[in-house]
Amino acid sequence: MQHSPQLNANGELQHLLSIEGLPREVVLQILDTAESFAGVTEREVKKVPLLRGKSVFNLFFEPSTRTRTTFEIAAKRLSADVINLNIAVSSQSKGESLLDTVANLSAMQADIFIVRHASSGAPFLIARHVKPHEHVINAGDGRHAHPTQGLLDLFTIRHYKKDFTRLTVAVIGDVLHSRVARSLIHGLTTLGAPEVRVIAPQTLLPSGVEALGVRVFHDMRAGLKDCDVVVMLRLQNERMGGALLPSAQEYFKSYGLSAEKLRLARPDAIVMHPGPMNRGVEIDSTVADGPHSVILPQVTFGIAVRMAVMSIVAGN
Ligand code: CP
Repeated sequence: MQHSPQLNANGELQHLLSIEGLPREVVLQILDTAESFAGVTEREVKKVPLLRGKSVFNLFFEPSTRTRTTFEIAAKRLSADVINLNIAVSSQSKGESLLDTVANLSAMQADIFIVRHASSGAPFLIARHVKPHEHVINAGDGRHAHPTQGLLDLFTIRHYKKDFTRLTVAVIGDVLHSRVARSLIHGLTTLGAPEVRVIAPQTLLPSGVEALGVRVFHDMRAGLKDCDVVVMLRLQNERMGGALLPSAQEYFKSYGLSAEKLRLARPDAIVMHPGPMNRGVEIDSTVADGPHSVILPQVTFGIAVRMAVMSIVAGN
């Protein structure tokens, strides 16, 4: 994929397109800024005026519950005007190109574009064409990257575990189709996590996944042993061209997280999932709703993390 710079000439964040290639200090700047916004989200008056007068356009060409909504909440808490483009009734359905749509929104004085798209690279393409004062944030592109999810996952891990440099993290399931896994793995290696494991059948791993700096396990029980953090991934049936798996029941038996398997991880392990969950396929409800689960706190932290990203890019 052609590189599109996320950083301006001063090394500051101009667009957020991918965690891959982001300097450690920029990742930490986002997490530290999010920390201060987490306090705002607990106040009675949850607004700060940092983006007053700015317009944030939510462009979601794929479905979303968590990301779109938390971007909207985050932008409103920063006092921005938020415009949610309804793609289904937009002129995209009449054949307007992605860049023409963006150019028209730009003519309406946009400041920040939040972009989710099924095609890997779509936010990069937009970032190469926007005006210098405009910013693009990738809200998930194809199988490629979901940087704000990766950042909120890092924020969650830091919240519960404090120090990345002692952690064993297991990322389990459909790594092949997962932009969430790629973004989190890049973030974990950037912040110095010494052992990042991926646990999956061979058919759900990208070839050469070891080059990301991970240890590969095909046996879930072996891979879970002594983990501090367990990240479950959704089976992305919509991205599977053919049958990569025998059946949902078989998959759960080998790669689903049950309370019994979770006991192989450390007693204080946390369980994460980016959502949406397939209960009974990749995770059992007793675990998803159990004492180790931090799945709903992940969603809440997403607001502070997205406030951080928008306030940082808008200030650069
Ligand atoms: N984690 C995530 O991206 O969820 P949504 O698809 O609901 O935004």
